[in-house]
Amino acid sequence: MHTAATLLLVAATLVVVAGRRQTPLRDPLEPGRMRSAECQFGRQMKELGSTWFADLGPPFGVMYCIKCECVAVQKKRRIVARTHCRNIKSECPQPSCEDPVLMPGRCCKTCPDDYSPDMMDPPPSIEDEDKNMKDYAALLTGRTSLVLKRDDALMAPSTSHNSYDLVATGRFTFHRRNLYYSFYTPEAAGRPRALQFVDVEGNILEEQALVPPDGVVRSAYQNATGKVCGVWRRVPRDYRRLIREQRLYVWLIWGGGSWPEQSLSGQVARYKALSSEMFSSLLQPAEDGDRVAMHGAGGTAIVSTKHGTPSVHISLVFNGVFAPDEIENVPVVVRLEHPEKDHVVFEEEVRVPKPAHELNVVEVRSPVSVQDLRHLTRGHLVLSVASRRSPRELRLQGRVGTRVACEIFQTPLSSVRPDPEEKDPRAPEGGEASGLAWLYVGRDGALAYSVQVAGLPDGETPYVTVSSGRGRRREDLEDLTPSFRRGWANGSVGAPGPRELEELYAGELSVDVAVSSAGRVAVTRGRLQARPVADARDSPAPALLTRPPGAPGPLELVAMAWTAVLDDCSLVYEVVMSGPSPHDGALQLYLESVPLDLPGAPRSRRLLEEFRGDQVEGFDNAASPGDLMQLEAGVSSLEVVDAGTGAVLLRGRIAQVKLPLNCLPQYRDNDVPADPQTQTHGDTPPEGKTCFHEGAFREDGSQWRPRSDPCLVCSCLRGHTRCDAMVCPPLRCPGGEAPVRPSSRECCPVCNGTVVQPESNTSATRGCYMGGLFYPAGRSWHPYLPPNGFDTCTVCSCAADSLEVHYHRTECPPLACDEKLAVRPDKKACCRQCPPAPPADEPGDQPLALPARPAPRDVLASGGCRGAGGAGLYGNGEEWHPRVSPHGEIKCVTCSCKDGKTRCERKRCTRSACRAGQASDGTDDCCPLCKRHRRHHKPPANS
Ligand SMILES: *[C@@H]1O[C@H](CO)[C@@H](O)[C@H](O)[C@H]1NC(C)=O
Ligand SMILES: *[C@@H]1O[C@H](CO)[C@@H](O)[C@H](O)[C@H]1NC(C)=O
Ligand SMILES: *[C@@H]1O[C@H](CO)[C@@H](O)[C@H](O)[C@H]1NC(C)=O
Ligand SMILES: *[C@@H]1O[C@H](CO)[C@@H](O)[C@H](O)[C@H]1NC(C)=O
Repeated sequence: MHTAATLLLVAATLVVVAGRRQTPLRDPLEPGRMRSAECQFGRQMKELGSTWFADLGPPFGVMYCIKCECVAVQKKRRIVARTHCRNIKSECPQPSCEDPVLMPGRCCKTCPDDYSPDMMDPPPSIEDEDKNMKDYAALLTGRTSLVLKRDDALMAPSTSHNSYDLVATGRFTFHRRNLYYSFYTPEAAGRPRALQFVDVEGNILEEQALVPPDGVVRSAYQNATGKVCGVWRRVPRDYRRLIREQRLYVWLIWGGGSWPEQSLSGQVARYKALSSEMFSSLLQPAEDGDRVAMHGAGGTAIVSTKHGTPSVHISLVFNGVFAPDEIENVPVVVRLEHPEKDHVVFEEEVRVPKPAHELNVVEVRSPVSVQDLRHLTRGHLVLSVASRRSPRELRLQGRVGTRVACEIFQTPLSSVRPDPEEKDPRAPEGGEASGLAWLYVGRDGALAYSVQVAGLPDGETPYVTVSSGRGRRREDLEDLTPSFRRGWANGSVGAPGPRELEELYAGELSVDVAVSSAGRVAVTRGRLQARPVADARDSPAPALLTRPPGAPGPLELVAMAWTAVLDDCSLVYEVVMSGPSPHDGALQLYLESVPLDLPGAPRSRRLLEEFRGDQVEGFDNAASPGDLMQLEAGVSSLEVVDAGTGAVLLRGRIAQVKLPLNCLPQYRDNDVPADPQTQTHGDTPPEGKTCFHEGAFREDGSQWRPRSDPCLVCSCLRGHTRCDAMVCPPLRCPGGEAPVRPSSRECCPVCNGTVVQPESNTSATRGCYMGGLFYPAGRSWHPYLPPNGFDTCTVCSCAADSLEVHYHRTECPPLACDEKLAVRPDKKACCRQCPPAPPADEPGDQPLALPARPAPRDVLASGGCRGAGGAGLYGNGEEWHPRVSPHGEIKCVTCSCKDGKTRCERKRCTRSACRAGQASDGTDDCCPLCKRHRRHHKPPANS
């Protein structure tokens, strides 16, 4: 649609931080690629089925005559989302009265009872459906696989689509409108490469790659547990309904390429037993059974236990153990045993009233011994379900192990205040000890843990324990102290006992850190809470956010933050705070990057989100490559800020975030890339202190290398561009080799051999960012710190392996004269010297003259301006109305150019403007409130 395309173009140029890096539409079945059915408008993600008025951002605001909708479009078997926008002005009805009014937030002038096309559906209320959206599972076998009526090579059931007789089982749970999924698949089959959610007709509603393009799954959690974990983010309401109505199917796909493609599907259905699931089992046809009769069969078990009066409850979901003539009231035998010990825990016969080809459910409950429960937690027991008539031939079996759900148990550790009720005279003063902990149950039932402790008194060795109970009834269950080293306790302990596991799943276990000087009383503590694993929470480690010195707010305040960069280059994060809530007011989450710790060093700071409460989970799809590279360089921090006062409550450094290869700046020939920071902002309308240089707008404080000369670095300071000649750091190459210039786009020579070749064939080059300037891995440079120019006393370098920026300073001898009189003998000298004669002007750091410019530059040089997106040239003092397609000229907004700065303002609707009739003369509709005001509140007749 023409209008939509034009409008989106305009939106992209006008919305200040338009999503430059939208996920390109790609064939989703290729590894590492995915596509979701949702619309992106500027920076916002819009749900399928939602409608909105185009918001072009200040100064234009919301265009009430441009109505947009996110519609589902069928593309072969895929459902994709498209934004459709249209101008609804022409659809305005003929007013039925003589004096129609334009109500605020509307497009058409109407009379009180008129219909109007500009009515917007009320925005969907934020339903808290999560509570009812739990306890879903799926069994995926050859027999449950959806039979499609369509003629589709991939989906058509054929004898080859499951030639290896694969079986899988999944669990699904909602958390903040996101559907988290977890699967057990047979180890021998390897990891499936893709997942699809489809409806009954076989339309693909969502698909995700489960293996990244480079084939390396980096998740330590999934590697250690053998599970497949992920999330379908922001599931549209219509699809949430499908799930509630059990009309959603999930597909797993293996192989492809040179391997025969294998696929399995199953219905996502609700099972009540899942609410108390403690263990799970994936049942496969027995090796020594009848493989032909059992082809395509499988099952899963949902196992609950009680440690008090030891018992086991098993819900079995399965198919395949019935002979063709067994059609009614068929007995099957369910058996739980310890094969290594030749010990049968229990064996029970259950009758299936009407055996189904795809899915049968039976329940078994039995008391067991405490010893058997212990075997269960250690993964020693095997469950089987078999035909009574041919128990050997028709049999499914599998080990009972850790429950399928991908989950970690995590908590920030908050300093403990002396508890007046415990009245322990040795209770510590609380202090500033803090930390974080997370753990999970591994494949063999063992508990893998990581605990970070910060702020302990010097030389203090902490006691790190997992405990249960509260107050005096607190009881230590596991001692993690032996593994404590350099602020961390990392390790794993054997399978927890049945009671401990129950308490862990119920959120009743804590991690305590005590110190001996305080008589082994806990100084910091937190209660472990379960969280689904995916995206951010599937990254190597969370960051600890602590109070900066002297920060307001309670001493106990601490937070843990998970961050990751996804394949579509968006940043996902989750922050959980602990300690007493600082206040009920709004908080803000900032991403700050400080490349180095020097006075005047460039830093960038971006608001990610405003939130309330003690946690925030979100994503940012507007991160520039520069922001991303700083994450990879490990120089970024998260800050929690009090939105009211602007005070920083918590801050923490994010460890290096590994970027997907496709999110690195792409360029050929080892050329220095055009600076991505400013590319993002290059099209923004000039505001206040922005500079214009070489055809692009540059933000105040930004730095860049001009395209025309690789030996200049420029910066924008309050609207003034200054450029300095590059000062290269001294170089001494090994073996006395002569330095070489790595490329025509780089100014400083390097030693031959340190030129890092681009990785693989992608032409992506790794390196460091400092102040928005890119430096390939291995390079050294002097930092550029305007207005002082190059700091020749400092040499920075980009570590080739870690991509961290390291720097060292040269020590200068003390000056024998007043510091103000000291000068540098030449531009490249690091240290100043006292002048022999009376002070002269400093020779260094003089801005160079800018290169000569063509004619439009003259206009700009004499204080002229460019229009939004670089369109149009306006002289100093000129005024104009901007144009926005498909709307045309926006009369209500006036832009003016003064001394090179453009200001755009919406017409003010004051009361006097109304009386004068300026705003309601019928030619422009800038002030709808005005007219309403006049109509409904007529001044008294005598005035
Ligand atoms: C995955 O596990 C294997 C062995 O269990 C180990 O060698 C490998 O390093 C692990 N990979 C990751 C990314 O943790
Ligand atoms: C413990 O694990 C964390 C996160 O994986 C890591 O950053 C830290 O260096 C480890 N500490 C030790 C002492 O191994
Ligand atoms: C750089 O090294 C390569 C091989 O290591 C050599 O062929 C080339 O001549 C060297 N270049 C210079 C300028 O020394
Ligand atoms: C990279 O290039 C080499 C040779 O230039 C080629 O053999 C290889 O297949 C390429 N790899 C990829 C992933 O394109």
